Amino acid sequence: MRHHGGVTVTARPATASDAPALASVAALTFPLACPPGTALADMARFVTTVLSEQRFDEYLADPTRHVLALQDDAAAPGTPLLGAPLLGYAMLVTGDPADADVAAVVEARPAVELSKLYVAPDAHGQGAARVLMEAALATATATGASSIWLGVNQQNARAQAFYAKHGFERAGTKQFTVGTETHDDFVLVRAL
Ligand SMILES: CC(C)(COP(=O)(O)OP(=O)(O)OC[C@H]1O[C@@H](n2cnc3c(N)ncnc32)[C@H](O)[C@@H]1OP(=O)(O)O)[C@@H](O)C(=O)NCCC(=O)NCCS
Repeated sequence: MRHHGGVTVTARPATASDAPALASVAALTFPLACPPGTALADMARFVTTVLSEQRFDEYLADPTRHVLALQDDAAAPGTPLLGAPLLGYAMLVTGDPADADVAAVVEARPAVELSKLYVAPDAHGQGAARVLMEAALATATATGASSIWLGVNQQNARAQAFYAKHGFERAGTKQFTVGTETHDDFVLVRAL
């Protein structure tokens, strides 16, 4: 547990019972990473097909994936509401990059992908994301990987500044599909 300004958070491995809360925070935060002008229908389609509770059930059961939950310690544990609310989440994927553009620029292997790192907007700028990133890096290191890579939208300047603070460097570009749209990402890499 760590205190940062107004928010006290803990990053921990997610468990099967977190799937509903993961889907909720994923739906809330996914649009924040999309470039301005992304069609609502495309973001909605991505949320319902890739970030649904059922998909999180699958991710949590997949041995190649590690999902981390960022908990707001102020939310009383054991609340009678369904599941504990989450302030954010991260997902790592082990294995060689499937995308040819990524495979060409991520040289240090084994590599792990930081596939998702999302924090609820109320908790931005307070160090909560740092707690999640540090847990993600520790988890990545524990998989035995030599490097960690990610894709970030080229217009997402805030996330790029955040990743630069954590030692990620630009290695290339790739494309990312959101519904009917194709977005341009930077590929960032960091040694572990
Ligand atoms: C990316 C994310 C996890 C970072 O967490 P955060 O709490 O916002 O990060 P921080 O505030 O520590 O760092 C962001 C930095 O960008 C700076 N920044 C803020 N707005 C910016 C902007 N429009 N352009 C450039 N830099 C910006 C901040 O000042 C800060 O730098 P500083 O610490 O030197 O002041 C969080 O913003 C988030 O969840 N965003 C929405 C989802 C997303 O984009 N996820 C990444 C998908 S690849």
